Amino acid sequence: MDKQLSRRDALKLGGAAIALAATGRAWGEEPFIEGQYEGQYGAADVGKYVLPPLPYAANALAPLLDAKTLTIHHDKHHAGYVRGANKTLNALDGARNSQDFAKIKSLSRALAFHISGHVLHTLFWHSMAAGGSPPAAELVAAVKRDFGAVDAMQQQFAAAAKKVEGSGWGVLAYEPIGHRLLVLQAEKHQNLAVWGAVPLLVCDVWEHAYYLQYQNRRSDWVDAFMSMANWKFASERYAAATA
Ligand SMILES: [Fe+2]
Repeated sequence: MDKQLSRRDALKLGGAAIALAATGRAWGEEPFIEGQYEGQYGAADVGKYVLPPLPYAANALAPLLDAKTLTIHHDKHHAGYVRGANKTLNALDGARNSQDFAKIKSLSRALAFHISGHVLHTLFWHSMAAGGSPPAAELVAAVKRDFGAVDAMQQQFAAAAKKVEGSGWGVLAYEPIGHRLLVLQAEKHQNLAVWGAVPLLVCDVWEHAYYLQYQNRRSDWVDAFMSMANWKFASERYAAATA
């Protein structure tokens, strides 16, 4: 084995990586044992994606985000990305087994779309809290360093979210090579991303996120999101990303 996984790497990669780090085995050396990691992912299928439950009651964010809009978004749309991710992984398994890569282009596109959709939605539920929450001092300092002022970052974030072309996201991210925060737009889920940047706070501006309640008023939805933004969650992710 060339290099032991650091604890930080292991945490980033998840439970399976932690198990590998503990055994000292390199990737590919660990024999697969059915059900070995049962419980860590909420399912026996290692590497399969699972729809996480909402971290609060469906009406917890009302009236700014009503229970019906939130529930359909989570139970139907987010669930669809989870299904799509697993279905695409299965199709890629089949392609490798049959050595038939005729559909590799569409499968690669589907892989990025569905997994990015799942990742962003998983973070999205935590990006909101009833009444919002304040950022920790470390995140405030980083925001002031990279944007000049907290208000300036929040204005840029809201403007980016409101002006996404088509369906997408507003994202505050930490980019570890430049050691700086970035406000990004994502079109769909995967386009306009920066490699390696860690999303800290995300705002869904697909119509399915708000249309039931806000109809075509995306700007009103983004303003509502900003008033319940969970900066405490963003701060925890920033601390983990920079540890
Ligand atoms: Fe969504």
